[in-house]
Amino acid sequence: MSGTANGSVTISLDGTNQTMKLPLLAGSIGPSVADIRKLYGSLGIFTFDPGYGETASCESKITYIDGDEGVLLYRGYPIEALAEHASFIEVAYLLLNGELPNATELSEFDMSVRHHTMLHEQLRRFFEGFRRDAHPMAVMCGVVGALSAFYHDSLDITNPEHRTISAFRLIAKVPTIAAWAYKYAVGQPFMYPRNDLAYAENFLYMMNAVPAEPYKVNPILARAMDRILTLHADHEQNASTSTVRLAGSTGANPFACIAAGIASLWGPAHGGANEAVLKMLGEIGHVSAIPDFIGKVKDRNSNVRLMGFGHRVYKNYDPRAKIMQRTCYEVLDELGIKDDPLLDLAMALEKIALEDDYFVSRKLYPNVDFYSGIILKAMGFPTSMFTVLFAVARTVGWISQWKEMIEDPSQRLGRPRQLYTGPTQRNYVPLAAR
Ligand code: SDX
Repeated sequence: MSGTANGSVTISLDGTNQTMKLPLLAGSIGPSVADIRKLYGSLGIFTFDPGYGETASCESKITYIDGDEGVLLYRGYPIEALAEHASFIEVAYLLLNGELPNATELSEFDMSVRHHTMLHEQLRRFFEGFRRDAHPMAVMCGVVGALSAFYHDSLDITNPEHRTISAFRLIAKVPTIAAWAYKYAVGQPFMYPRNDLAYAENFLYMMNAVPAEPYKVNPILARAMDRILTLHADHEQNASTSTVRLAGSTGANPFACIAAGIASLWGPAHGGANEAVLKMLGEIGHVSAIPDFIGKVKDRNSNVRLMGFGHRVYKNYDPRAKIMQRTCYEVLDELGIKDDPLLDLAMALEKIALEDDYFVSRKLYPNVDFYSGIILKAMGFPTSMFTVLFAVARTVGWISQWKEMIEDPSQRLGRPRQLYTGPTQRNYVPLAAR
């Protein structure tokens, strides 16, 4: 895999006659990259980019984001078209394999996923090791990581068949693990997956059904859930995907890598933001309190941020947020919720923020997390399950990116360097002399 040569960038070290031409590599769309792989060998210097805001960590063909224009493409297809016309399992096939499936390919892929949704019976007891009030993301980290203890037959990442079966197992089992984490928290019996139900429908069934009576999933809510999963499926080299790639670059098995991704997603700056948005709206409480809250956000000493706003890449409206907002209306309408105070508050907050120079000048717009919590709360999910849902969806993206990395002949162990500013070498001082 390599980009197209697109000229070079010449750099020179002041005070020396040392110069170097860095090859410029162009992708199919988006900014070219300066290839610095020989920089240290030529000029004895590193580049410095904490947070990797200006650094391409890899080459990928999976997802493209244009942050200035608010564009998101999965394998070249706009997120708006996929959210409107494709099912999540169709999007999963696309992200994993690079092309939209035909009817036969889709049916076979769907059947393969459906026939891996069950967990080993021994794993049921694994949940009992957690307190009932454990955060479900802690359960997800633990149980997904534990899957590697059950599949010794498919942990050779150099074997394409092992990579494929691991992908199916992870995509198929994370909804079961997520639903069982919820059932364990509320003290209800686990509901086994049903192979006659589609992916999102099966997940809502396992979340909401009880053994005592039949349960029919509302098709409008199933469609909304399916679309929410599509919106969260992948997003280029975000923090959790980069975590999965870094873990995978050591040769760790895919279950351990996805568990690392789940842990990284948990943070409020990343996937934990949907839970943080609901907490923020609860703290604001009423539209009349918005000006005070915005005042706190503008006060640098307050450390208060407008959660669900801003993005490292999007300096325009996150296209997923627009679709999420529309889905919010659909779900509230289907549930007969005429005026949801949380939605009213969120809409008022968004309007005020988008007219306030603090946010406009910093190009801070709503991101995918701003509306998702409102929908999920209306659908009956507890706030603690919001990031779990994000992890269920993102597992498809994580495993697609992991697979792409493992199959990239140029991939190497990830090992960043540093700018060292600690003490220079000094002699040990015996205890008696200190
Ligand atoms: C996700 O990477 C991905 O693709 C992630 C994701 C995915 O699908 O994987 O899209 C999912 O994680 C979405 C983001 C969810 N996080 C939040 O909603 C948390 C709130 N947002 C922020 O904390 C923040 O916007 C980040 C972390 C998302 C991005 O921050 P950056 O790029 O590091 O920007 P920054 O912190 O350098 O902020 C630039 C300026 C600063 O002000 P000044 O120093 O210029 O005065 O903008 C301010 C920041 O203080 N700012 C905010 C803000 N976000 C940035 N001020 C108030 N509220 C905010 N939300």
